[in-house]
Amino acid sequence: MSILVTGGAGFIGGNFVLDWLAASDEKVINLDKLTYAGNLDTLRSLEGNPNHVFVRGDIGDRALVGRLLEEHQPRAIINFAAESHVDRSIHGPGDFIQTNIVGTFNLLESARAYWQALTGEAKSDFRFLHVSTDEVYGTLSKDDAPFSETNPYEPNSPYSASKAASDHLVRAWHHTYGLPVLTTNCSNNYGPYHFPEKLIPLVILNALAGKPLPVYGDGQQIRDWLYVKDHCSAIRRVLAAGRLGETYNVGGWNEKANLDVVHSICRILDELKPKADGTGYASQITFVQDRPGHDRRYAIDARKLEKELGWKPAETFETGIRKTVAWYLEHTDWVENVTSGSYQTWIETQYGQ
Ligand code: NAD
Ligand code: DAU
Repeated sequence: MSILVTGGAGFIGGNFVLDWLAASDEKVINLDKLTYAGNLDTLRSLEGNPNHVFVRGDIGDRALVGRLLEEHQPRAIINFAAESHVDRSIHGPGDFIQTNIVGTFNLLESARAYWQALTGEAKSDFRFLHVSTDEVYGTLSKDDAPFSETNPYEPNSPYSASKAASDHLVRAWHHTYGLPVLTTNCSNNYGPYHFPEKLIPLVILNALAGKPLPVYGDGQQIRDWLYVKDHCSAIRRVLAAGRLGETYNVGGWNEKANLDVVHSICRILDELKPKADGTGYASQITFVQDRPGHDRRYAIDARKLEKELGWKPAETFETGIRKTVAWYLEHTDWVENVTSGSYQTWIETQYGQ
């Protein structure tokens, strides 16, 4: 038995593959294009593990995906591959349209051809699990109820619009062709191996480097944070027991304003690695120009996943953020590897002025 994971050299996909192989003997075929966000260093501990087959390639390459499906006969495809950073989608939406929409379309077509040719239990047990985001629902004001699975889609950024489009394709492939799909819509993740273009790892690393901690606008935008290992356990649960064609919201009931998140990181760093000059890291906080079209608040109602499938997160924000800061302090090699080269160009583009 095997599963095909796409985007398994990225942040969440990498954590998923590591967790999967730590707990199971089932082989993982890991298909990743290795864009700037993909990093084989994350998977270094799997070198020589016969249950991890890494293939560099594009989810949109039907010949390649078709060959992989034929050769390995996976019982499931879990699609993490995407362009994932909102700010990059504002600077250049083209790659988001290509991978998130056209790529997902091609992957669905490859999956459909493979699944239609299966017979018996192999056919009835096959699953296509699409990993998506809460951003497809748009933005909430302070007093709105958290997003449930029945909220209308109102994406506001090129990134979220491209993810919304991919979710619609996945839904349509189920309704029209019967492809056995599952979709998860998750809130903001954080934890080990998070690429430092995103708020939490960027703040940890800038703090340690004595650089400004850039807070967009007034810093009062709210995100609902989930430790990445909890997202991975939710995906495993949905894969095992989710109802076909259903979507499941995944979240940690951890709404925090960005400025509070930054202060939490500073407090933990003050404790674990105090600055030599005796000042606190919070003195590096700098308010910068806001993100265009910045969504004000995300919040996830994860009751369906809890009621139907019994899933609950293991970490609170307080336990998860402490583990995360400690992980970055202990993994300077990984950090040095991902922050060399093209990373510097991105930081200059986004924060240069
Ligand atoms: P990431 O940017 O860290 O990783 C994406 C991975 O996909 C990279 O390894 C990259 O090389 C690969 N990839 C990109 N284009 C590809 C292509 N055309 N073919 C094959 N591989 C390709 O992203 P992430 O944060 O790990 O997010 C993974 C998935 O989870 C995405 O679909 C994202 O929309 C979704 N999601 C992310 C979050 C979050 O907070 N990070 C929350 C909810 C949902
Ligand atoms: O909600 C799920 C989404 O969470 C995922 O679908 C995306 O793939 C993922 O990137 C994430 O999107 P966000 O835009 O919420 O994450 P980001 O870390 O980029 O930003 C978090 C918040 O912090 C957001 O309100 C913008 C703000 N921010 C971000 C950066 C990078 C800052 O204030 N300063 C910064 O430098």
